[in-house]
Amino acid sequence: MDRILIRGGNRLSGKLPISGAKNAALTLMPCGLLTDQPLTLRNLPRLADVDGFGHLLNQLGASTAIEGTRPDEFGRVMTIRAGQLTSTEAPYDIVRKMRASILVLGPILARAGEARVSLPGGCAIGNRPIDLHLKALEAIGAELEMSAGYVTARAPKTDGVARLTGGRYRFPVVSVGATENVVMAAVTAKGSSRIENAAREPEIVDLCRCLVAMGAQIEGIGTETLEIEGVDRLHGATYAVMPDRIEAGSYACAAAITGGSLELVGIDAESMGATLSALADAGVLVELTKNAVRVTAQGPLQPLTLTTAPFPGFATDMQAQFMAMLCKADGASVLTETIFENRYMHVPELARMGADITVSGRTAVVRGVEQMVGAPVMATDLRASMSLILAGLAADGETAVSRVYHLDRGYERLEEKLSAVGADIERVSDG
Ligand code: UD1
Repeated sequence: MDRILIRGGNRLSGKLPISGAKNAALTLMPCGLLTDQPLTLRNLPRLADVDGFGHLLNQLGASTAIEGTRPDEFGRVMTIRAGQLTSTEAPYDIVRKMRASILVLGPILARAGEARVSLPGGCAIGNRPIDLHLKALEAIGAELEMSAGYVTARAPKTDGVARLTGGRYRFPVVSVGATENVVMAAVTAKGSSRIENAAREPEIVDLCRCLVAMGAQIEGIGTETLEIEGVDRLHGATYAVMPDRIEAGSYACAAAITGGSLELVGIDAESMGATLSALADAGVLVELTKNAVRVTAQGPLQPLTLTTAPFPGFATDMQAQFMAMLCKADGASVLTETIFENRYMHVPELARMGADITVSGRTAVVRGVEQMVGAPVMATDLRASMSLILAGLAADGETAVSRVYHLDRGYERLEEKLSAVGADIERVSDG
């Protein structure tokens, strides 16, 4: 298994390109199932999760052709062609490995009138149930049946034609994935749908814009109420995946924690408001240009009080990286995680590198330390892994991060991007 070795202490400086967003890619790819015409996605990041999702689409009968990019280029262009679905099932083996597979439920149901998807089961950062996905789909006409660890969803038939009816649903709590699933299912329903307390994450805006480019009728994009008028069919389109705000935020923390200065190129600043203002509050200089942001450390980092919340609040996907950064702050910070119940697994690993963190329930108190020290550490989930990389970049001596496959799910060419701006980082294979 691969490990990443970092010899800490280098100040990072230079330009770093930001890739297409993983979480947007994983909701744009299933849109390809909604039409028999080609959907071309540009700026798709090279990530294990994107490959995994491609395999799932192939299993359902869609082809996923990668075009026109050289191996040394960032990003890819993928054309998804789902002329006909040959299967309507997402099996346990795939869903277990990649939770986002649940996002095929809505599109398969809308397209084929029936979908069978394995229940995802637990995952490292908490229970992560799918009850809201199912309730929202039921509200727009799906008939559900659970058996043997699978959910089967069917659209009601009128005159032999299976089609969702549309309907109204108000989410009791904000869910990104459930909003995505119900929107993808509702766009070709017979009637209209109204989704209230919908997630407003930028990736949902990206999804809605892609669906509109495919012929969908959606009002209220970017607000908490989405009104969808079902259309008979969608057509093909070409759409560019938005920049990854979490990748960009992670590298911004890398600049701050190493006392360096990075220009993150190809970002969408609007999607990063909470992250950029938290960085500014920590005393980091944040300078926006047209499609880039320069993040420069200036003096000691200031402690912060941060609470994760749905967009436009501070993203749970940035919590671990800020925690690593705040280990170097001049004082005590308080982080509260409100989205997932078990998202502090990086704490014991950071502690092995000299961090002083106390967790009580959903709140973590991070007391800044003079110097972190390199150590062998283990990645536990995607963003937790990045917090260990960040700590390693600032630590004294060598850090070896194992279970690198977590990072490969979400950071395109991490070592390459970081070495290019001065980090001493390499991937080693233990064979
Ligand atoms: C997505 C992101 C993930 C991010 C999260 C929150 C993708 C592929 N993943 O995950 O990176 O951390 O949003 O911004 O885009 N919940 C239920 N029932 C449900 C669904 C969710 O109780 O049916 C709960 C979850 O357990 C969690 C909360 O709702 O406590 C929010 O989860 P949700 O927004 O659905 O996260 P994901 O879509 O899984």
